[in-house]
Amino acid sequence: MEKFKYTSPNVLLVTSRNPQGTLTTAAEQGTAVEPTGIAHRGFAGVYPENTVAAIEAAVTDSRATSVEIDVMPTADGEVVVFHDDTLSRLTDAPPSVAGTNLWELAYDRIAGYDVLGTSQSIPRLGDVLAAIPPEVTVNIELKNPGSTELRFAETLDESTLTVATDRWRAFVGRVIDIATDRDHDLLFSSFYEGALAATRELAPSVPIASVFYDSVDTGLELGRRYDVEAIHPPWNMVTDASLPADGPVSGSFDDVDLVETAHQAGRDVNAWTVTTWQQAAALAEAGVDGIIADYPGVCAPYERPTPDSVTR
Ligand code: G3P
Ligand code: MG
Repeated sequence: MEKFKYTSPNVLLVTSRNPQGTLTTAAEQGTAVEPTGIAHRGFAGVYPENTVAAIEAAVTDSRATSVEIDVMPTADGEVVVFHDDTLSRLTDAPPSVAGTNLWELAYDRIAGYDVLGTSQSIPRLGDVLAAIPPEVTVNIELKNPGSTELRFAETLDESTLTVATDRWRAFVGRVIDIATDRDHDLLFSSFYEGALAATRELAPSVPIASVFYDSVDTGLELGRRYDVEAIHPPWNMVTDASLPADGPVSGSFDDVDLVETAHQAGRDVNAWTVTTWQQAAALAEAGVDGIIADYPGVCAPYERPTPDSVTR
């Protein structure tokens, strides 16, 4: 039976599908200790995001047991690791190119640009995976299949879902082919129902996570529909952490204890995107399983300043 290791609260859990086809998660095993560190875009706060250099640096830092990367296609069918639809924010591409959707450009048109003023270029997924040791879990966020007609953070009715899944299927298939060619433990995630549906359809044993935006109900419903192994809420949705409300998304989220709800369903909770030790400490206290963080210093064991370590 195919096995995946799935990293969760600071312990490496070897998990596998049991005969009923469900994964054993940290939540089910009751082993929650401190959240695992997930290097967001390869610790985007300190390295050029989603580049090979960032990933190489992140995976040599023991505070990250997992890395998160964003993927999308190029016009000629490559899968690249990149966050934005266009090159304008992240590269030195000239205006004539920078405004074009990345998936309308062939890989050799984008490969020569520098990312964030470094000598790093936009990498292919295979290049990034080659830089990650097999013991590090890879969270691949399915960002865009090459379309402007996507249904972001929505639950879809049957006919709309059919169209959406069709839109994602070929791209997701390419990502699965590339990712499963190596030995990493994988976690695919997405804001998009079509991406989750296509992943479950094509690779039912690959763990998946629904990424929440501004609706608890939508995120939880997507989690239930696809029986996801993890949910990825913005950190200010974890209201049990009693953090200031001005987090990654706006809204009032007091109604649901996400950690308890997810754990009761056997799902892990990985919160994005953590930038301070206060957020990390409060989320750990609330029982989240993973911290998707921009800085290694906020990952577990999170560096809570002590009187001795604070210099005035
Ligand atoms: O997957 C969590 C987080 O990465 C989602 O937001 O925009 O940073 O990809 P974004
Ligand atoms: Mg992401």
